[in-house]
Amino acid sequence: MADTPASGCGPHQCLGQPLARPEPQIVYGTLHRRTPGLRPAVACEEIEFVPEETIYGVRALPVTW
Ligand code: HEM
Repeated sequence: MADTPASGCGPHQCLGQPLARPEPQIVYGTLHRRTPGLRPAVACEEIEFVPEETIYGVRALPVTW
């Protein structure tokens, strides 16, 4: 595993990398398998983003399936 800015680098780089990296693959793979019709419930233009946060993201993501 190479050093990445998201998990730090050097002697104090994140010890959770081996867990944190496969986690989203497992989560989203399982979610897709269990709810194959999962999709946004609103148009992409209506999704509000939160640009001022340390971790960039959406304020809410209404979904339907
Ligand atoms: C997406 C998930 C994660 C991200 C982005 C992340 C990011 C980071 C970052 C930036 C650091 C600081 C590195 C530094 O001091 O230069 C760190 C340290 C650390 N992380 Fe994570 N981390 C994540 C998940 C986890 C998980 C799941 C665990 C444990 C199960 C964990 C355990 C640790 C520990 C113990 C340190 C301290 C390492 C040290 O100071 O020697 N992290 N992490």
